Amino acid sequence: MNLKLIVIIFAGLAIGGASAIALLPNAQNALFPNTKTRSTGKALIGGAFTLVNHKGQTVTDKSYAKQYKLVYFGFTFCPDVCPAGLQTMTVALDKIGKPAASKIQPLFFTVDPERDTPAVMADYVASFYPTLVGLTGTLEQVKKAARAYRIYFAKVKNKDAPGDYTVDHSSFFYLMSPDGAFLRHFSHSVSPDVLAKALKALP
Ligand code: NI
Repeated sequence: MNLKLIVIIFAGLAIGGASAIALLPNAQNALFPNTKTRSTGKALIGGAFTLVNHKGQTVTDKSYAKQYKLVYFGFTFCPDVCPAGLQTMTVALDKIGKPAASKIQPLFFTVDPERDTPAVMADYVASFYPTLVGLTGTLEQVKKAARAYRIYFAKVKNKDAPGDYTVDHSSFFYLMSPDGAFLRHFSHSVSPDVLAKALKALP
């Protein structure tokens, strides 16, 4: 069984629980074939995307090829986790200062393109680090980017307010190399000091 299939099964488990096992009767054996540690090889995080930045310009994964990328997926209506995460990112980049911070392009990918238009994203990113770029697009484009980064998201209706909704989503920071390879991830609750130290150590 190859790594890609394992990742797909893990994603299935996260989303569909036992249904992934039901669909793939051999999945359990394949996932846990023995107690030996498997070599995971290259992480399957990152990949091609085409989106629209907060200035309304079409951009792709190739648009930021000269810099490291600090990637975060979320949405502007997020009440706490996203603003706190982006604040951590901002404090960390402020802490390392220029020129070190100039090597890093912070990117905020929305998982709520319905509400997060380029104009809404522009207002939002202005509250954080000056070079932060907000990325949105069609739902299809957003889904494709989320799939590339193995990000789970799902719209959840607000029972008390018809028409209103929130979006559940995974909330990691991903550090990507200039050529787009995954380097490491950080929890959204990483401290600004820890994040700053890791970013400052980049060659
Ligand atoms: Ni959030």
